[in-house]
Amino acid sequence: MTFFETALLYTAVVLMVQWMYQIWDQTTRHLAPGPMEFPIIGNLWQAWKADPKYHHKALYKLSKVYGNVMTLKLGMVNEVAINGYDAIKSVLNNDEFLNRMDADWLLHKSFGKKIGLVSGSADYWKPTRRFTMFHLREFGFGKRYFQQSFLDTEIDEISKIFDQAIAQNDGRIQPNKLFGIPTVNVVWASVANSRFDYDDVRITKLVHLMSEWSSNAKLFEGIPSAFPVLLKWFPQIFSTENLQKIDFEMQGFLRSLINEIRDQGTFQMEPKSFIESFLQNMESDSSKKREFQHVLTEENLISILYDLFLGGSQTTSATMSFALLWLAMYPEIQERIRNELTAVIGNDRRATLEDKSRLPYTRAFILELHRTSCIVPLMPRKVFKDTKFEKFVIPANTLVMLNPYSILMDEEFWGDPENFRPSRFLDQNNNIINSDRVMTFGGGRRNCVGETIAEGTIFAFVTHLVQKYQFLPAQLGQKFDTSSIVGISSSPHLYTIQVAKRDVY
Ligand code: HEM
Repeated sequence: MTFFETALLYTAVVLMVQWMYQIWDQTTRHLAPGPMEFPIIGNLWQAWKADPKYHHKALYKLSKVYGNVMTLKLGMVNEVAINGYDAIKSVLNNDEFLNRMDADWLLHKSFGKKIGLVSGSADYWKPTRRFTMFHLREFGFGKRYFQQSFLDTEIDEISKIFDQAIAQNDGRIQPNKLFGIPTVNVVWASVANSRFDYDDVRITKLVHLMSEWSSNAKLFEGIPSAFPVLLKWFPQIFSTENLQKIDFEMQGFLRSLINEIRDQGTFQMEPKSFIESFLQNMESDSSKKREFQHVLTEENLISILYDLFLGGSQTTSATMSFALLWLAMYPEIQERIRNELTAVIGNDRRATLEDKSRLPYTRAFILELHRTSCIVPLMPRKVFKDTKFEKFVIPANTLVMLNPYSILMDEEFWGDPENFRPSRFLDQNNNIINSDRVMTFGGGRRNCVGETIAEGTIFAFVTHLVQKYQFLPAQLGQKFDTSSIVGISSSPHLYTIQVAKRDVY
C-alpha cells in the first residue's frame, strides 16, 4: 500500500468512527439533527458550501435539509440554528433563551462584563432594562408628542441637505451616510433631552465611532468566529484590536458627555432626562436606589448609552438608505405613496404619527422595506444550561442562532420574496396583513427597546421626503445593486440618485 492509500484509508476510518459517534451522541442526548461533522472544522465546510459569504443564507439553505432546529459545530463553536416563523417565535417567547452571546470582543464594549442592555446577563439585564425603560418613558421615550417634536427638527435639517444638493449638484446625492447624524441625534434626544447641531464636532465623532464599530465587528465571518482564540492571538489581523480602540474611545467620550451633564448639577434637584435620572438615583440613598443598587453604576450607564447608540444609529440609518434606493428604483411605488399622502394629508402640512393608520399603502411600503432590508439578519442568543426545545435538548453553552432571514425570505410563504412589492401586505380592502411576519425588531421580553422610536423616525422621514421631493435614478437605465453589506447589521452599497423638489408647503 502506498503512503497515499494508507492516508486515505486512515482518513476514511477516522471519519466513519466520528460519524458513528455523532449519530450515537445525537440520538442518546436528543440533539437536533445536523450535517456530519469533520474533525477540527466541524461543519464549516458544509456552511461554506451552502453560502460562502452570508451565514444567514447558509443556515436557511441547510435548514431545508436538516429542519428548522439544526445542530452545527462550526470549528470550536457549538451552534443550534433556529429557522422559520413558528420556531423563532417560540424561542423569542421562551425565557430560557433570554441570554445573549458572550464573545470576548463583544463584551469589551461593556468593560469585559455582562452588563448594559445588549450583553447584560439575564439576571443583571432584568433590573437594568426595567430601570432604563421606566426612566426613558418618564421623559417621553416612545411617546408620540415627544417623537414628533424632535423629529420635526431633524426633518428640517435633512431637507436642507437635499435642497443644497439640488442647488449645487443638479440634485445628485449619495444617500448612504445622510441619515447618520439625524438618527444619532434621535437617540441623544431620547437619553439627554437635547440635540447636537450638525456642525458640532461631538455628533460627527459619535457617528464616526458608530460606523467604525459596525464595519470592524464582523460577527459571523467564517474562520475567526469559528475559532475565537484566533481573535485573541491575532488581534491586528481580525480587527479585534481596532474594535478595542473604538470601545476605549467611545467609553471615554460617553464618560465626558456624562460629566458635562453632571457638572451642570441640575440633576440633583429635578432630573430633566434619562441620564440625569440615572445620576440622581446613583448618587441618592432612596429606597429605589437600594432596589437597583447593583445596576446603578457609571460603567453600567456608559454601557447602556453605548448600546442605545449602537442599536439605534446604524440600523435606522441603513433602513432609510434602503428606502431611498427602492423609491428611486420604483417610480410607480413612489407615486402611489405620494398619491396616498396627497389624498389623506393634502399638500399643506407634514404627515404626523396620528395619520399613520390612515395611510395603508405607506405602511405596506415600510413593512416591505423592513422585510427586504433584513437589517439584523441573525439574532444570537445563548443557553448556559441544558435546555429542552421542541423534542430536542440544546446542551449548555450552545449559541442559539435565530435566523429572521428565513422568515423574511421564506419562498413558500411569500411566493416571490426577492421582489420588492409592498402590496403583498394589503388585502383586497386595503387592510394590512402579515405584519407579524416582519420580525425586524425581534420579540419577547428581550426585543428591541427602540422599536417605537425607529418606526416613528422611519415613518416621519419617508412621508416627509416623498411629500417634498422626487427621487430618481441618477442616470438613464441605472442598474441598482440591492444586495447588502452585512456586518453586525446590513446596509446598502454606495449608490447615487437624483433628487428634485416638488411644489408643496
Ligand atoms: C430599524 C431600526 C432597528 C432595528 C432593525 C433594530 C433591531 C433590533 C433587533 C433585531 C434586536 C434584537 C432583539 C431580540 O434579540 O429579540 C434589537 C435589540 C436592541 N435594540 Fe434595536 N433595532 C432598531 C432600532 C433601535 C433603536 C432606535 C434603538 C435605541 C434607541 C435600539 C436599541 C436596541 C437595544 C438597546 C437592543 C438590546 C435590547 C436588550 O437586549 O434588552 N434599536 N434591535
